[in-house]
Amino acid sequence: MLADGLAVYQRDCLACHMADGRGVPGINPGLLGSPWVLGSSDALVGYVLTGGFSPEVLMARFDYLSDTDMAAVLTYCREVFGEGSGAVNVEQVARLRAQLE
Ligand code: HEC
Repeated sequence: MLADGLAVYQRDCLACHMADGRGVPGINPGLLGSPWVLGSSDALVGYVLTGGFSPEVLMARFDYLSDTDMAAVLTYCREVFGEGSGAVNVEQVARLRAQLE
């Protein structure tokens, strides 16, 4: 799961949030220690699926990621940048995606 998550992170997130999760100051927020990464995993899935819950935010929607890729990349983020704040599972992503649609 973590290796898969790293692969998705490198493909879809690294360009903006950087390999070390520190982001680019003034442009892209860091994920390292971010309250979204540390907090409720449901909220984190919702954030990344919708690109931040609001049409004004700058991040893209990642609703094209499969449930498996989304669970893997967010598990990776929570493990590596979120002090091990807990895995995200595939069923959880599927449930939240259905709720958001
Ligand atoms: C094109 C650049 C870009 C890419 C690619 C990108 N993000 Fe973001 N991300 C942003 C920006 C910009 C924000 C801040 C949005 C805002 O606050 O308006 C953000 C915010 C976030 C936040 C909230 C951080 C905080 O503390 O405010 C999370 C979590 C997040 N991104 C996760 C991801 C994940 C996971 C991926 C890969 C699937 C990803 N992002 C890909 C640019 C990007």
